[in-house]
Amino acid sequence: MPYPIAAEIRCGDIRKLSQSARKQIKQAWLDNLVLLIRGQSLNPEELLQFTQTLGELDLAAPDSEMPAGQKPRFNPSVSVVSNIKEDGVPIGSLGDGEVVWHTDHSYHEIPISASVLIAVEIPSLGGRTGFINMYRAYETLPTDVKARILNLRIKNDVTYNSAGQIRRGLTAIADPTKSPGVFHPAVRTNPETGHNALYLGRRRQAWIEGLSLAESEQLLDYLWNHLESQPAWYNEWKVGDVVAWDNRCVMHRREPFPSTERRILYRAQCKGTRPYLDVQASTAPHPRGATFPS
Ligand code: OGA
Ligand code: MN
Repeated sequence: MPYPIAAEIRCGDIRKLSQSARKQIKQAWLDNLVLLIRGQSLNPEELLQFTQTLGELDLAAPDSEMPAGQKPRFNPSVSVVSNIKEDGVPIGSLGDGEVVWHTDHSYHEIPISASVLIAVEIPSLGGRTGFINMYRAYETLPTDVKARILNLRIKNDVTYNSAGQIRRGLTAIADPTKSPGVFHPAVRTNPETGHNALYLGRRRQAWIEGLSLAESEQLLDYLWNHLESQPAWYNEWKVGDVVAWDNRCVMHRREPFPSTERRILYRAQCKGTRPYLDVQASTAPHPRGATFPS
């Protein structure tokens, strides 16, 4: 059976799920990595309620990561992803350009587990979001590379967001060995599935601990080429789509869209745990296939 990357759940109004349906959705999310649930209508509070199906809520972002002058609009656990400006001030983050392959909050000591988006306004073209299965990315590496990276840590740079913007209050430092960031294992165990995934965070300013910059760049380029050769699933957003993914084993990117178009999504997230590697887990088989009845 091929590796899963996403499953569509058809379950009616997600504001009305029973406890047992919520449990099934959680399991389907762990098994399939990304869930798409169409036709929903959620206000920010209802998005938070649904997000708790997957774990405990986390804050959207520390204040320092909000665009200058911006406060959370609804709740500190809800953020807005949008290119719209009101009175010259962006109402949300990430603009209209490409958002390169990344894992959410990998530059935090304790990165989030789940990210959940609901589409509120969607452009008529572009702006699709793509997802890659990072269990597969790990498992399909050549044996010698797997062994080589098993105990390495990667610095996850904090300077740039995935839209290429410098985070507020930070100055770019060109040398990746010196720029601010957080070290995480290159291979991490998902504590809820017990399976190992390649954990790359972001490419820009990344550095592999203990290697010379040249060696680090070479190995990172190899791993990123491997990542970009993985099959990806893209969501063609429709208003009312809810997409939930597991940042412990999924990377995502967004295509650009015309600046003349409007795009608004609300976003919520669950608290994760500190990334670690359980070497034993690397031999366990990967979860494959949906368990949720459609
Ligand atoms: C995010 C993100 C991509 C998109 O919210 O973390 O990367 O499609 N969004 O807007
Ligand atoms: Mn993201």
